[in-house]
Amino acid sequence: MIAKLKAMADEARAALAAAQTEHDVEAARVRFLGRKGELRELQQGIKDLPEEDRPEAGKLINRLRDELEALLESRQQELAAGGGGAAEALDVTLPGRIGRIAGRHPLMQVRQDMIDIFLGLGYQVAEGPEVENHHYAFEALNYPEDHPAMDEQMTFYLGHDVLLRSQTSTVQIRVMEQQDPPVRVVVPGRCFRRDTVDATHSHTFHQLEGLCVDEGITFADLKGTLLAFAQGMFGPDVRVRFRPDFFPFTEPSAEFAVSCYMCGGEGCRVCSQTGWLELGGSGMVDPNVLAGVGYDAERYTGFAFGVGIERFAMLRYGIEDMRLLYSGDMRMLSQF
Ligand code: DAH
Repeated sequence: MIAKLKAMADEARAALAAAQTEHDVEAARVRFLGRKGELRELQQGIKDLPEEDRPEAGKLINRLRDELEALLESRQQELAAGGGGAAEALDVTLPGRIGRIAGRHPLMQVRQDMIDIFLGLGYQVAEGPEVENHHYAFEALNYPEDHPAMDEQMTFYLGHDVLLRSQTSTVQIRVMEQQDPPVRVVVPGRCFRRDTVDATHSHTFHQLEGLCVDEGITFADLKGTLLAFAQGMFGPDVRVRFRPDFFPFTEPSAEFAVSCYMCGGEGCRVCSQTGWLELGGSGMVDPNVLAGVGYDAERYTGFAFGVGIERFAMLRYGIEDMRLLYSGDMRMLSQF
């Protein structure tokens, strides 16, 4: 009897250890612990034993039942947890599974670097709505009615007077309406234009706007600030260039370029042999804009600028096609 019990116990343990599915475990349970199982059969054999051996055999059977029930349960849990259990013990020599560590999108990395430079210059970050009305998009920025300068701002209208902003300059107005001078803000944000998508254009893109208004602000402040910005982005040797341009909300207005970081101004493929990289627009805030938000335009002056963030990201990372930035393609994104 005792020998039979031991043999059954060994078999039951082996069956459980070998069980690969919950189904196998259940089969083992039925076979050994079931109502018509082997243990029950042995138990029924107790009565045939000599009187003095019965208590011992009974105890042994009970102990075995407890053991098998515990084994059964733990095996079931292991399988439910997806583990291979003792039979295929953890192989510590396998390489671990390393979770992917997320990183910032290259566009957002550059955006943050740009912002950080201005934070260092005492600027604050402001944001404004992507959906605007005609007043903020054009009127308050001193666009004369039906002026051709609005053409290049042609954007997506969501309704008669509701449109997606085509430039972050709209936020200049919102900031100035909210606070008195001095103002020093940079405004990162998404903009939208009815542009055909190609390697250097997108209907959705990002700008960083800057605005500084205070007493005694001059064009020299504009130049010095953008020089500091350019040096922060491209290194101490970079030079800046300002050429006359037109924007309704600045007077005078200037296109803002930096000497090519690649060739130092000699002319190369990156700068299309010009030696310069055009980065955006800038100028002295038009007194009409200041007066429009209720500032005393005799007392305060200011400068503003706006640059495209994509351009910086493409230059820094050598990305030749803007569309890659929006592809969501991990093969491209995981390089940065
Ligand atoms: N918003 C202009 C654009 O999208 C860029 C710009 C030019 C912004 C001059 C300014 C500025 O703040 O003063 O082309």
